[in-house]
Amino acid sequence: MKCVKVPKKNVQMFLERFKNIVLNSYEFIKEDGFVFIPVIKCPEGYECMEKTFKEKPRKPKSLREALLKKGINAKGILSSFDLMGDVAVVEVPEGIDENLVGEAIAEVHNVKAVYAKQSAVSGIYRVKKLKLIYGRDVEEVHYKENGVKMVFNPSKVFFSPRLASERKRISELVREGENILVLFAGVGPFALVIAKKCKTCKIVGIELNPVAVKYFKKNVEINNLSIDVIEGDVREVLNKRFHNWADRIVMPLPKDAEHFLADAGNACKKNGIIHFYTFVNRHRREQEVKEKLKNLKRKYKIRLIKHVRDYSKDIEQVVVDVEVVE
Ligand SMILES: C[S@@+](CC[C@H](N)C(=O)[O-])C[C@H]1O[C@@H](n2cnc3c(N)ncnc32)[C@H](O)[C@@H]1O
Repeated sequence: MKCVKVPKKNVQMFLERFKNIVLNSYEFIKEDGFVFIPVIKCPEGYECMEKTFKEKPRKPKSLREALLKKGINAKGILSSFDLMGDVAVVEVPEGIDENLVGEAIAEVHNVKAVYAKQSAVSGIYRVKKLKLIYGRDVEEVHYKENGVKMVFNPSKVFFSPRLASERKRISELVREGENILVLFAGVGPFALVIAKKCKTCKIVGIELNPVAVKYFKKNVEINNLSIDVIEGDVREVLNKRFHNWADRIVMPLPKDAEHFLADAGNACKKNGIIHFYTFVNRHRREQEVKEKLKNLKRKYKIRLIKHVRDYSKDIEQVVVDVEVVE
């Protein structure tokens, strides 16, 4: 292969001047104060010769490719993989080397840390256990979504980037001047995205986990938004302060939200909308939704039932937009 012998101190200048003829996909050879740079043709005034060059290892184009190169079947991993800023969280199926998965992710994405989920989300705070499988532990994730910045510790609070399009959808439904309750608010993603869109809405977020509340308040501050963040149990707070108050209520607790529908119903104005997230068997979607909505104890109309994400073979998460008509 043709190459040019360039004194080490002139390499930078050479690369800038002749960038169109340099073959960058090969490793340059360094010898005795000179660098041999492979080129398409020899520029005038330089010493030219033939040498053998090694191709640079190519960065995999996708996580699928990086995993396959390490002999790992990508399917289960790709569907569980979440990237939040420079931190990735992944579920590694049993029998697969977690560290290889961490390395594969780092080859494709610019991450400081990769964590493997050690459990499903559980407990009242809906938190999952995480184990570091690549890089160094990070105390906080910095993540941007729908124009808002968020910071949180992923092992102490619930957060899912997969609901980003839902947050956008709801923020686009909101009308100026609405009173909005975000129940089970976590670190505030729904409330923040709505607040960014609606400057004249009154927005209240209610959350039980004190760590999530701390991050929620911080997120309100760093985005310079106006949201009333309340630490406490949804049922107690609603029944004490929000009777017949809300034009819109968001209920992102798919596992248990039906147990709070009566309280939400109480807090909702006539013609208000409730966005109710829940798990249903995909083959009995409508029946199961209607069964759960009996708890609302108000007259309602279902405006929409929409698939949010798959949970398992038969179970899916849906969002139901319900109008309280009387
Ligand atoms: C599935 S997470 C959703 C968090 C957030 N809305 C999001 O989308 O990232 C549910 C949240 O509800 C909170 N939570 C559970 N039961 C609650 C209750 N009775 N009152 C207030 N918050 C509750 C949990 O701590 C958790 O942060």
